[in-house]
Amino acid sequence: MHPADIWDVSGVLRLCFFPAGLPWNLNLAFPCHLDFAGSRAGAYNPGTPVRTAGDQRRSAAIPAARAPRTPRARRPEAALARPVIKWAGGKQQLAAELVARAPRAIETYYEPFIGGGAMFFALLADSALAPKRAVLNDLNRDLITVYEVVRDDVDALVARLEALQGPYLAAGADERSTQFYAERGRQPEGAVDLAARFIFLNKTCFNGLYRVNRQGIFNVPHGKYRTPRILDEPNLRAASAALAGVRLTHVDFESALAAPKQGDFVYLDPPFEPLSATSSFTGYTEGSFSRTEQRRLKLAADDLTDRGVHVMLSNSAQDYIRGLYSADRGPFAEGRYRIDSTPARRAINSRGDKRGPVDELVVLNYAPEVERRELPSN
Ligand SMILES: C[S@@+](CC[C@H](N)C(=O)[O-])C[C@H]1O[C@@H](n2cnc3c(N)ncnc32)[C@H](O)[C@@H]1O
Repeated sequence: MHPADIWDVSGVLRLCFFPAGLPWNLNLAFPCHLDFAGSRAGAYNPGTPVRTAGDQRRSAAIPAARAPRTPRARRPEAALARPVIKWAGGKQQLAAELVARAPRAIETYYEPFIGGGAMFFALLADSALAPKRAVLNDLNRDLITVYEVVRDDVDALVARLEALQGPYLAAGADERSTQFYAERGRQPEGAVDLAARFIFLNKTCFNGLYRVNRQGIFNVPHGKYRTPRILDEPNLRAASAALAGVRLTHVDFESALAAPKQGDFVYLDPPFEPLSATSSFTGYTEGSFSRTEQRRLKLAADDLTDRGVHVMLSNSAQDYIRGLYSADRGPFAEGRYRIDSTPARRAINSRGDKRGPVDELVVLNYAPEVERRELPSN
């Protein structure tokens, strides 16, 4: 099935993120479906959301034929784009390690667990690696709407974020809190409003965490950043250029992996295998990403390998994951897959002494063409 054919399949919303340095273990201290504080509507008036032509276009069903199929020429600023949101398990710190192992001459780049998109943006920054086409996916529908709006309606998004940022930065602590809870407590109207609210909450909530309750309602309390960059206009415009012509879908990874063919490159960054029983965090979506899901992903990677698609997967350096990808016979010492490990910092433990570097596994089904520097292998 071509991804365009699955363009409108709904994803499930259940999502969480936290940046590096989170001081405690989320699963213990932050039960998944706990509602933190009731919505506190105050004097802040969020204003009338801008409904743009893009919103109207999007509200009509998007037929598969309208999904972008060919790359538009990328504007040069695309190479400067960085992630527009913070995301749990975001790979910004690892991006250089991952890009160093990426194949050259990518036809179509597929990233079915896009999250904050650190790898996608890092690939575009390297003109030798920038793929001709890209298909980005995440099960989180709101997240994909953010990317659609950044791609298609960046002017309206900038205007809406400006309207949110101005009063927030000018306000004192109490008014900021009132504005935050008013935004948190209201329903977005249209895609631009949804994207602006998503980014506003992302930049102003506690510790950059994002989590929704069973009803899909964002429930993280207000954060304490002094001057959060709610609107980063140059980066939003660069990201808009980077996303031009990119196909965006919000389906389960298995559907998103039906289309890749020889010459394409797939980067898989699933919710990670917990480092310990108490450090687990796989709460981006309603169903947790269990070992059954990790096995389902391994079978999908095998299928891609059989189809001649270049595959890279990152995950925590757990014996279970290592075992999963070393079991088969194949051209590498480990078997069918080459398994590198590289130091990474995971921000999930409450205890600072347990938050030191931990290894990340980088699993490849190909030998990197250019070993630009010595890469540790296993
Ligand atoms: C580790 S995060 C990806 C982080 C990303 N590489 C970055 O740099 O920000 C995993 C992502 O997988 C998504 N996800 C979870 N289950 C999924 C599924 N079954 N299919 C597709 N995406 C899924 C989550 O919503 C989350 O955004």
